[in-house]
Amino acid sequence: MICITPTPNLMAKTCFLPPLMFMLLLFVTFRATLSKNSPNITTDQSALLVFKSHITHDPHNLLETNWSASSSVCNLIGVTCGSKHHRVTALDLSSMDLTGTIPSQLGSLSFLASLDIHQNNFHGSLPTELTNLHRLKYLNFGNNNFDGEIPLWFGYFPRIQSLFLYMNKFTGVIPSTLGNLPKLETLSLYDNNLKGQIPMTIGNLSNLKWLFMDDNFFTGVVPSTLGNLSKLETLSFYNNSVKG
Ligand SMILES: *[C@@H]1O[C@H](CO)[C@@H](O)[C@H](O)[C@H]1NC(C)=O
Ligand SMILES: *[C@@H]1O[C@H](CO)[C@@H](O)[C@H](O)[C@H]1NC(C)=O
Ligand SMILES: *[C@@H]1O[C@H](CO)[C@@H](O)[C@H](O)[C@H]1NC(C)=O
Ligand SMILES: *[C@@H]1O[C@H](CO)[C@@H](O)[C@H](O)[C@H]1NC(C)=O
Ligand SMILES: *[C@@H]1O[C@H](CO)[C@@H](O)[C@H](O)[C@H]1NC(C)=O
Repeated sequence: MICITPTPNLMAKTCFLPPLMFMLLLFVTFRATLSKNSPNITTDQSALLVFKSHITHDPHNLLETNWSASSSVCNLIGVTCGSKHHRVTALDLSSMDLTGTIPSQLGSLSFLASLDIHQNNFHGSLPTELTNLHRLKYLNFGNNNFDGEIPLWFGYFPRIQSLFLYMNKFTGVIPSTLGNLPKLETLSLYDNNLKGQIPMTIGNLSNLKWLFMDDNFFTGVVPSTLGNLSKLETLSFYNNSVKG
């Protein structure tokens, strides 16, 4: 490009403005493409209506009338939206005596920070799509009827602080990936059908304060790595075959 200008200042404008404008145009186009395809509150509403369709028994008719397609999603019982992005940030359906399963669509609630469905009768296994909930800080599936193994992908929630899986029918061993959760403070696995050794990797949970493993079929010894957990306040593994 040739810049025919009398002063260096003006030259700068003539020569560098076009590339800048080109970048701005690219940015605007990129933003437009993004907003056209990115999920929004409508995505959350569809996901919640699919979740409702997977609830087979709602004895107190809590969702039956309240969770209607014509209601604004942020006004549904148990739903909290964030003001910044206007997306669902918390879902609390605890203690509602609901029976049902968890559909893969629940993984579309990509702004969810808190998911609490404890004390119901949810059953079956957990869909892999839940790994998309990478903003989760609090997850409570306690006191339900979930079965199958604790999925390996529970080790991939980068922000999770509280993980409650107590009083279910989870089987198999604790996946060693659970040691990958840098923010985890509470891990509650009591009253399941878990077996085998407590993995060494649990010693990597440097923020862990409460670890509940009672009433399972764990064997072996408490791993020496747990001695590395400087913030640990409670470790309980009553009614297992673990040697201290
Ligand atoms: C959500 O996105 C879809 C396209 O994916 C669009 O049709 C719809 O109008 C959007 N809804 C809101 C509330 O922005
Ligand atoms: C659903 O429940 C919420 C919270 O109790 C309430 O504010 C809302 O008005 C209810 N909506 C309908 C349609 O009943
Ligand atoms: C986690 O712990 C295991 C066993 O104690 C160790 O071998 C591994 O290097 C640790 N991983 C990280 C990422 O710290
Ligand atoms: C010990 O744990 C097993 C398996 O979870 C359970 O069935 C049993 O009731 C527990 N026993 C006591 C004394 O808590
Ligand atoms: C964790 O504990 C193990 C066994 O007690 C020890 O060998 C290791 O060096 C410790 N790791 C850290 C990061 O403190």
